[in-house]
Order: sequence, then C-alpha cells, then structure tokens
Amino acid sequence: MRVTIRDLKRMKRRGEKIPMITAYDYTSAQLVERAGIPLILVGDSLGQVVLGYDSTVPVNMDDMIHHVRAVVRGSERAHVVGDLPFLSYQADAAEAIRNAGRLLKEGGAQSVKLEGGHAHAETVSRIVQSGIPVMGHIGLTPQSVNQLGGYRVQGKSIDSAARLIGDARALEEAGVYAIVIECVPAPLAKMITERVYVPTIGIGAGADCDGQVQVFHDLLGMYQDFEPRHARRYAEIGEAIVSAATAYAHDVRDLRFPTGAESYTMNGKVIEALSEYSANPV
Ligand code: KIV
Repeated sequence: MRVTIRDLKRMKRRGEKIPMITAYDYTSAQLVERAGIPLILVGDSLGQVVLGYDSTVPVNMDDMIHHVRAVVRGSERAHVVGDLPFLSYQADAAEAIRNAGRLLKEGGAQSVKLEGGHAHAETVSRIVQSGIPVMGHIGLTPQSVNQLGGYRVQGKSIDSAARLIGDARALEEAGVYAIVIECVPAPLAKMITERVYVPTIGIGAGADCDGQVQVFHDLLGMYQDFEPRHARRYAEIGEAIVSAATAYAHDVRDLRFPTGAESYTMNGKVIEALSEYSANPV
C-alpha cells in the first residue's frame, strides 16, 4: 500500500518531518524508494535536469506522463506526485481536470501538483472535486519565470508576504492536501506553516516547513548548469560518473577491457568446425 494523503496529514499533526525528493525514471525511483522516502515528486524540473531545456516552460503533458509512468514502475510504497506542466491547467478548469486525470489514469500517479495561489484556487477546487488530490505550490513558481523576471526569492516585502499567506489559505480552502513553498524567507514559511492545517513542503524556505523537497540531481551533484543556494549536495555522483567513464575509456583504448572473465566462451569443437567452415564456405 502506498503512502496516502491521510498519512501525510497525520505526519504533520504528529510533528513528523516529511522528506520528499524528485525522481524522473525507473532507476532513480527505485533508489529513492530504497531510502524510505515517502513522497516522490515527478517534477517538471525534468525539463532542465533530464531534457536540457533552460526552463520548465517547454515541458508538455506527454513528457510528464512518460516520466511519471517510469517512476511509478520503480516505486512501491512512496506516494508519487505528478507535476502539471505549464499551460496544462491555466486555460480552463475542464482542461485542468482532464490533464490532472491523465497523470493518474495514464501515468499511475497518486496526486498532482500545480503552481499558483489565489488565482488558481477555483481550478484546484474543481480538480479536487473530481476526486484528484492536489498539492499546491507557492512562492517562486518556476513556470512563471518570464513574468517573475528570473528565479528570485519571493515574499520579501509586506505586500508580497501577505499575498503569499493569502495564497496558502486560498489553496487550503480549495482543498489541497499539501503546499510546496519555494524560495521564500524562512520566517514567512514558518508563519504560513503555522497558519495552515495541511503539510507545507519547503525548498529554499527554511527549516520550519513540515517537510523538505530537493531535486534529485542537486542532492547528488549531478547537474552542473545551476547550483541553487538552498541545495545541499549529499554526494558527488556527477564526478564519480565522469571518473568511471574516463577509466572505462582508458581501459578500452589500452586493451584492458574486456578481459576473459568479461567475455563468453564457446565449445572448442564448435570453434574448430566454424574455422573450417569459414575457411571453405559452401
Ligand atoms: O519541478 C520540481 O522539481 C518542483 C520542485 C522544485 C518543488 O516543482
């Protein structure tokens, strides 16, 4: 049985912190699952770290479904959240419901996430009423990078902080089961966390959120293009891969790979018959 939204809400009530990591394929999902992570996000950040785009804007529904399916196949217990990509939910609620439904029906996710606060509360409410659990996402919302003018910390002034508190409340009223808070000052994230009943999951939002989310590639030192201040590298897998691939290339060039132990043998009689055959083909 996978972790449910009720389990996540219970974790908040008990003061149990919720670790969440992104994953984008079968293997990364298996590894994250083995670490006992209860919540996996198939984020549209895959646009950057997997597909090589310079933002999440180009990611589409087919990309998301493709990756959500792989993550669901690679996990058993974790609750898998599928991100709704840019323009899959903004135009109208009916389209939002259809696309959210695709992440569950075709992808196998247990819930969806979408970016935005008050302005999207009605859409969130319609999706939730259709039986699809929704995780909100406020603060820095990367799909709006062109409107925000870059990846900046949000909620630093009284007005914008008050707006974010209002956004969190509007999402909670609309029925979200959790809210991601991205890149906001820690004291503001703490206030939001204390003012809503649903778990808050922070990224660059300080230690007082109910949980934390990190991008798989940031956590493991696998993405060189951008290193956010809020990411902590727990391993240098990128460097380990480069040195392994370099050692492999040396071994191939210097005839150290493969050895006999890494090759398949053949019965001597078959080799003899084959040599005769290739010397005198019929
Ligand atoms: O797409 C993503 O990975 C996200 C997280 C950064 C929260 O939305």
